[in-house]
Amino acid sequence: MKAIVYEKYGPPEVLKLKEIPTPTAKDNELLIEVRATTVTSGDARMRALNVPRGFGLLSRLALGIFAPRRQILGMELSGVVVAVGKNVTRFQVGNPVFGMSDAYGGCYVEYRALPETEAIAKKPENLTFEEAASLCFGGTTALDFFRRGKLRSGERLLVNGASGAVGTAAVQLAKHLGAHVTGVCSTANLDLVRSLGADAVIDYTKEDFTRNGEVYDAIMDTAGTAPFSRCQVSLKPGGRFLLVLGGLSDTLGSSWVNMTTDKKVVAGVAKVRPEDVRLLGELAEAGKYKPVIDRTYPLEQIVEAHAYVDEGHKKGNVVITVGHGALV
Ligand SMILES: NC(=O)c1ccc[n+]([C@@H]2O[C@H](COP(=O)([O-])OP(=O)(O)OC[C@H]3O[C@@H](n4cnc5c(N)ncnc54)[C@H](OP(=O)(O)O)[C@@H]3O)[C@@H](O)[C@H]2O)c1
Repeated sequence: MKAIVYEKYGPPEVLKLKEIPTPTAKDNELLIEVRATTVTSGDARMRALNVPRGFGLLSRLALGIFAPRRQILGMELSGVVVAVGKNVTRFQVGNPVFGMSDAYGGCYVEYRALPETEAIAKKPENLTFEEAASLCFGGTTALDFFRRGKLRSGERLLVNGASGAVGTAAVQLAKHLGAHVTGVCSTANLDLVRSLGADAVIDYTKEDFTRNGEVYDAIMDTAGTAPFSRCQVSLKPGGRFLLVLGGLSDTLGSSWVNMTTDKKVVAGVAKVRPEDVRLLGELAEAGKYKPVIDRTYPLEQIVEAHAYVDEGHKKGNVVITVGHGALV
């Protein structure tokens, strides 16, 4: 089968199209014919080993000191089940599915085998394969931070970086949870963020939200431009700071903030829960959550897709179609 392989860290050109053996489904696995996958900010970071400040050594230990240990990126997928192991009970051959592999990827392929207990669910019927492939990365991140940050109905949330994959999911899911949402983005993305349900939008090129006197119950930073030190003035007493993107010192400093102030910093890597993936599918099917797709590229143009994501200004998600392309 075709796969996109990277044998060294570096620019998008390290991604090479190769032929590798097609996997088979073990007893507890589904074999999925992949129709679409995505280029997440996480894939681009792992490819280039471009990680937040202070995480360089830890990342090399996790991913491979001199070269990537696992050489196929891609965290999200959608596709059709083409084989099931003998112990699989929840899925059958022919089921359209979507979901997430573990954080190290493996979805830039034509066929992916995954245990049925992983974060895989039936594809919402009203979504294309491209849309279904884009449900999870931003969605599971937002749900995990909202859960750990105890976001409640009626609370005021500000999302900094509201137009990215995490931001566009966070705005929609926070509205679904009943929060009042303010989205911070650049001028070109104000209408997009409003269309996702944001109650208010702030253009970061014109206004600094930490200086307008507004206060929030929770602030989520997905852009890395609003650390706790800068936005604590905008948090109410008891407010929570959701540090989706921060350096090692911000992450380590969170314990100090939590011990010494009346505010709380929620940091760390978001956990992907199979039940959250199922919830995202249900919300999408009910029309309450729709992934934003910026651009779509075929697998053969993965280098161009990564180069675009490297620019750091994608709107929502960048999708890769695989094989016969996305058929509904
Ligand atoms: N902790 C975790 O578990 C976890 C999970 C997922 C992602 N992440 C990290 O979170 C970050 C965001 O992920 P993503 O997938 O959403 O990235 P993304 O899709 O690339 O989006 C980044 C967004 O940041 C916005 N932005 C850039 N400069 C900004 C500024 N000064 N103020 C406000 N917004 C600004 C960009 O919008 P404009 O074009 O309008 O500038 C862009 O839409 C990534 O660095 C990723 O590594 C962490």
